[in-house]
Amino acid sequence: MTPPLSLQDRLAFRNGNRLKLGLFGANCSSGRAVTMVDERWSAQWPDMLRLARMADEAGLEFLLPIGRWKGYGGDTDYQGSTFETVNWASALLASTRRIGVFGTVHAPLIHPVIAAKEFVTADHVGEGRFGLNVVCGWNEGEFEMFGVKQRDHEARYDYAQEWLDAVKAMWTRTDEFDINGRYLQLKGVRAWPKPYGGSRPMIMNAGASAVGQDFAIRNCDALFRAVKHSGLGEARSQVAEVRERARQAGRELSVYTIGVMTCRPTRAQAREYYEHCTLEQADWSAVDSIMALQQINPADYSEEAFRKVRRDFANGLSGFTLIGDPDDVANDLASLHEAGFAGVALSMVNYGLELPYFCDEVLPRLVRKGLRVS
Ligand SMILES: Cc1cc2nc3c(=O)[nH]c(=O)nc-3n(C[C@H](O)[C@H](O)[C@H](O)COP(=O)(O)O)c2cc1C
Repeated sequence: MTPPLSLQDRLAFRNGNRLKLGLFGANCSSGRAVTMVDERWSAQWPDMLRLARMADEAGLEFLLPIGRWKGYGGDTDYQGSTFETVNWASALLASTRRIGVFGTVHAPLIHPVIAAKEFVTADHVGEGRFGLNVVCGWNEGEFEMFGVKQRDHEARYDYAQEWLDAVKAMWTRTDEFDINGRYLQLKGVRAWPKPYGGSRPMIMNAGASAVGQDFAIRNCDALFRAVKHSGLGEARSQVAEVRERARQAGRELSVYTIGVMTCRPTRAQAREYYEHCTLEQADWSAVDSIMALQQINPADYSEEAFRKVRRDFANGLSGFTLIGDPDDVANDLASLHEAGFAGVALSMVNYGLELPYFCDEVLPRLVRKGLRVS
């Protein structure tokens, strides 16, 4: 018997920090920075392990990987080298003590019986610190690699619903059962052990569409949504609205966001480094290939607007930019919290080199603001 662990404790990452913090995308080469600079993130295992232990020691709440099967090409083959996320999570959970680690799983590509057991395995390794990010996928080349035909957008979430219901059934049902769904026909299913401590892993997704958000409201504990500085006012009401809709459906949903950070001792140094990496040294051919995959066509934009979109893609594809000195970054994080976000998943050009400065300078400022306990 494992000691009991409540779902509430899991969702709070077993601490009282009001603003939760994590790292996003470190399982992929170059992380979320589409740049050619030499110090871009390698995502090699020794660096990864050192980073996870550093984040764990600093009290960060989570590591969120990207489920990516095929690199984007360009001069650097952006995100061309990636660790499979559930194996990655298991290994990191075995090597850390407190931090939560997510697996990011494409429902249409991984059989639910295998998936449910992988999640339970990682959850026991981490004594209840595993979390699940369910994604439906969008990258045609990845589906072709698997020989799987991508469903239309709505049907993707229909399938994901059946897939997640099956996973949850395997996490909870103690009998032998059949599943006779529209997509899944499974006979005589048995699954032991159950997740750690009598509760289940935290479940998140990052649907941006109406169906994606409805999926989160029905099934998830956390919804991740990207926001920009210019959209913060709007985000405040959208966060409140989606949480209220969840409440009306009898569910509690936390909303998180993603931040792309460059923090340096002075604002000028931060700005200079940001411009060096994401403008002068951007891997523009990779940026163009990502945009083509997402059917973003120059013909649909004015020249100026297209340049801006292209720049956003170079800057980690999307996300709130946190650029400045430690006060600027702490203030930006506070404004995200104030807009209703429960937490932020951060990325940086080189996580291993940049995280120590963030922990030394920004975390104490967040403690002083009452957003985190020391
Ligand atoms: C924080 C975050 C993480 C995401 N992770 C992945 C991922 O790892 N793999 C993937 O294929 N899509 C990923 N996505 C894309 C979403 O799952 C989703 O498909 C996208 O936001 C579009 O929303 P929609 O499916 O409702 O149209 C992510 C999006 C965000 C904002």
